[in-house]
Amino acid sequence: MIAFTSCLVLLVTGAVFSYPDVDTTWLKATLKNPFSEPRHHVTNPAYKAKARDFIIKEFRSYGLETHNQTFDTNLATVKGVNVIAISKGKYFNTNKDQIVGVAAHYDTMRNTPGVDDNGAAVVAMLQAAKHLAKFGRNFTVIFVAFDFEEWEENLPEEACTYLSCGSRKFVSEWMPSFWTTMPNLKGFIVMDTIADIQEMPDTQQLPQGLGLFAPGVVSSVNSDGKKGDFIAAIGRAYDSDVLDAFVTSYTALGQPEFELEKINITVLTGPTLTQQQFMIFNDLIRSDHYSFWSNGMRAIFLTDTANFRGYMQACYHHYCDTFSRFTDKMLQFLGKTTQALIGSVNILAPSTELSGSALVG
Ligand SMILES: *[C@@H]1O[C@H](CO)[C@@H](O)[C@H](O)[C@H]1NC(C)=O
Ligand SMILES: *[C@@H]1O[C@H](CO)[C@@H](O)[C@H](O)[C@H]1NC(C)=O
Ligand SMILES: *[C@@H]1O[C@H](CO)[C@@H](O)[C@H](O)[C@H]1NC(C)=O
Repeated sequence: MIAFTSCLVLLVTGAVFSYPDVDTTWLKATLKNPFSEPRHHVTNPAYKAKARDFIIKEFRSYGLETHNQTFDTNLATVKGVNVIAISKGKYFNTNKDQIVGVAAHYDTMRNTPGVDDNGAAVVAMLQAAKHLAKFGRNFTVIFVAFDFEEWEENLPEEACTYLSCGSRKFVSEWMPSFWTTMPNLKGFIVMDTIADIQEMPDTQQLPQGLGLFAPGVVSSVNSDGKKGDFIAAIGRAYDSDVLDAFVTSYTALGQPEFELEKINITVLTGPTLTQQQFMIFNDLIRSDHYSFWSNGMRAIFLTDTANFRGYMQACYHHYCDTFSRFTDKMLQFLGKTTQALIGSVNILAPSTELSGSALVG
């Protein structure tokens, strides 16, 4: 009887893997409300404000010091608002501090519910913040929900006409104004479109030319039947400590059905990119991490590859990036990434209250 019971427990826990610091029920409920309708200043300003107010309220409820960065857009009547939460380390405002950041944009394109792009990453960030805020650290950790990552062209009432208006303002204006002396930066983990997972063959496309600088990734995906079953972690050689932290903590979680492809752009050894490098690596710099790269700061980019995978090939930036597409498999995949995010921050900014395996898990 005892043997039978423990066997049953094994079966049950084997079927649905759970992550110690991640509440997947909360992830799913929060994704549904308030991150499953357009968050756009023209098509749904009320829902966008609702999502932003929710983020502010959550950060505050975790005990985090929370700020707004309000910035001008192309429209006199529309302001952008980045929401920033800080867990101040013991070294805050000293030259020993090394800031670790986690970031995701909360805005959407006009006519997309934006569940994968980028509600999923926002709820992952909030869940990670909720856990990480409980522990003291020497280094400061900062969480940012960016506005106006999305941009548009040739439409009425455009507020932002190039990639990442919000994170550019954050990097160039908020950071230098918040700190009297710019602190050392360990680096940011930027997430955009991270929830789609596809177990069927031929669900993954790859950007042209990826084989030139990441041949291992191309052969790995091709030899696996071109399945869209991995999170891509993209960084430059310059961002290696941050990239390593994510790879280590994701790999330590097991559950290998959710794979990882590390894209280490080895030729990018310096803090910024030349114009020519920008052109060559264009497909890998389509989100907020580029605001850090172009300002000489370390950052990695986590993504499910968006329009290169599964239903997002059709639904990226369109009506069908909906909550109804969000499967239990996707929830588990999002849970793993969230747990690895927590683990990464614990590696980069170790808690002064945790030790041993908790550093990774
Ligand atoms: C931030 O903005 C929100 C929404 O615009 C507002 O409700 C809130 O009071 C602001 N908070 C701060 C700290 O300025
Ligand atoms: C990325 O590549 C560079 C150059 O080969 C190497 O020094 C670095 O350790 C690599 N980083 C990661 C995280 O793989
Ligand atoms: C935090 O800093 C103190 C010195 O101020 C040091 O003794 C301790 O090892 C540090 N803890 C961690 C987890 O880095």
